[in-house]
Amino acid sequence: MQVAVVNGVNLDMLAKRDPTLYGGLGIGELETRIYAWARELGCTARCFQTNHEGQFIEWCHDAGQWADGLIVNPGAWSHYSYAIHDALEVVDVPVVELHLSNVDEREEWRRRSVIADVVAHRIVGKGPDGYREALAYLKEHE
Ligand code: DQA
Repeated sequence: MQVAVVNGVNLDMLAKRDPTLYGGLGIGELETRIYAWARELGCTARCFQTNHEGQFIEWCHDAGQWADGLIVNPGAWSHYSYAIHDALEVVDVPVVELHLSNVDEREEWRRRSVIADVVAHRIVGKGPDGYREALAYLKEHE
């Protein structure tokens, strides 16, 4: 099983962001863990990160061609990008929306996800371990 993990805007700055919200790992360390968890679970992960919405969307389109599952953390785009919503709607593989922090209990504007209705599953507030859970979810629903 092949899984695409696409992290969006400002996730490259994770090491500098509030560790009590985001877990304290840098993006490189996070990706290293994701690759190890994927191996443990018997799947292959490919990780991407971009601050450019169009690039994010193209990787999602692309993942629909080669991956069996897609994990997305669009960062702040999750709260307002209808373009990402529409892109995920046409991706023909199960999509997991993931947030390191518990967006459902943070500021009002973070509680709204415009992609929630086009994903198979959501994981919020589990920190980096949420990615392990997302991989396990996709593996279970292969
Ligand atoms: C985030 C939550 C978003 O609200 C925020 O803008 C991020 C990260 C998370 O992983 O908790 O950049 O997606």
